[in-house]
Amino acid sequence: MLNVQIRSINHLTGDHITRAAKAHDSLFKRTGLGAKDWTWWLDAPNTYGRTKEYRRIGTTAKELRRDFDVMVVVGIGGSFAGPKAVQEFVEGPWRNQISDFPVYYVGNDLSSDKLHDLYKILKGKRVCWVIISKSGTTTEPAMSQEVIYDFLVKNFGVANANASMIAITGYSDNSDLYRQAKKNGWKMFQIPEDAGGRYSVMSAVGLLAIAFSGLSIDEFLAGGAEMLQKVQEFGIDNPLVRYVIYRHQQFEAGKPVELISTNDEYISMFIKWVVQVIAETEGKEEKGILPYEILYSRDAHSLEQFLVGGNKIFFETMIHVSPKNQIIMPGNDPEAPMYYLKGKSFEYADKVMMKALKKAHQQSGMAVEDIYDVQKTERDCGALMMFYMCAAAMSAYMYSDTMPPFTQDDVEFYKRFMFQGLGKPGFVA
Ligand code: PA5
Repeated sequence: MLNVQIRSINHLTGDHITRAAKAHDSLFKRTGLGAKDWTWWLDAPNTYGRTKEYRRIGTTAKELRRDFDVMVVVGIGGSFAGPKAVQEFVEGPWRNQISDFPVYYVGNDLSSDKLHDLYKILKGKRVCWVIISKSGTTTEPAMSQEVIYDFLVKNFGVANANASMIAITGYSDNSDLYRQAKKNGWKMFQIPEDAGGRYSVMSAVGLLAIAFSGLSIDEFLAGGAEMLQKVQEFGIDNPLVRYVIYRHQQFEAGKPVELISTNDEYISMFIKWVVQVIAETEGKEEKGILPYEILYSRDAHSLEQFLVGGNKIFFETMIHVSPKNQIIMPGNDPEAPMYYLKGKSFEYADKVMMKALKKAHQQSGMAVEDIYDVQKTERDCGALMMFYMCAAAMSAYMYSDTMPPFTQDDVEFYKRFMFQGLGKPGFVA
């Protein structure tokens, strides 16, 4: 089980403890702004597994694995990042080349070339299409969905097209997706009303694609439950409380950027998911810590100069991931440059690399904390996702009583400007 170690809050003030206790209650006792209406995800690991909808996700995933070779998920923001993060966390960035059940993601941008290339990849394969949108009106996935459906109808006929489409959306007539799915008889799953996009990974949004991949959704939710058990009681040894205080102390010390770094690309998409969860949750009232994704040692060869020598705006949280496989240096040729590492593993060098970076960063005055022993399993992924959802929400409550963790008004403004710009009926300025 992963091990969160936050040591550098030695100068805990009464003020931090009081604010953290209040923020913890705001979330777990649901006394904070929006907490009663938007925390479906806090109960999900312990309750969702017992629902009919959850069983339907499992049986549908089995049927999809029987009837289709490939899944394409169409969604953006919280409606795509979660399942992709879980799949890569466990199976890595090349999973689609290795897995018997590849999952591709589109609709998270407006790249016509990407969609064009995807058609080439999918040629001759049996494909199911999962359209995810809580509002059911977001432009990018809606445009992709319409083009895809048109392609399917023209190439395979209406009945086959409808049989391959699945909608995951809010059950409301305001959702264009909901209305279309009903009209065409697509399979449907509900995004719970009290789960915002970025907090929806433990619903059908994440679970259907995860289960199609062949990963265990039971284990994923069990990880979430295990983490809740660890963090739901307030205390200064509680890793969640320590982490939130650490972040706020850094913010108050004039460090507005948190480097969330890892030693393994399997975790990069997970960190991108974290970036959205934190950015949309606490980027408000002209406050907030900007999360920044870092992959080592790749970025040690590009950003390191700035991180150490440049503007001192950073603090860091390192996520240390354990490998599933070992590679040992052969040391067959005494004249080979790496002979001195004969018998040593990549893991050994990887650990040295993380220690070296930590030392360099600390020597430059940067605070660095660690999450150790992360295994590439569904369980650790569920645990870490729960940890970060709780951390983001609790952190927002630490700034002020008025910061609403679960809204994203500025994203909605962008969406409206987009509607206006495109001339959507009813939205023309
Ligand atoms: O996390 C959020 O709430 C947002 O980023 C949304 O997920 C994103 O804008 C997509 O919205 P929707 O799921 O309504 O298409």
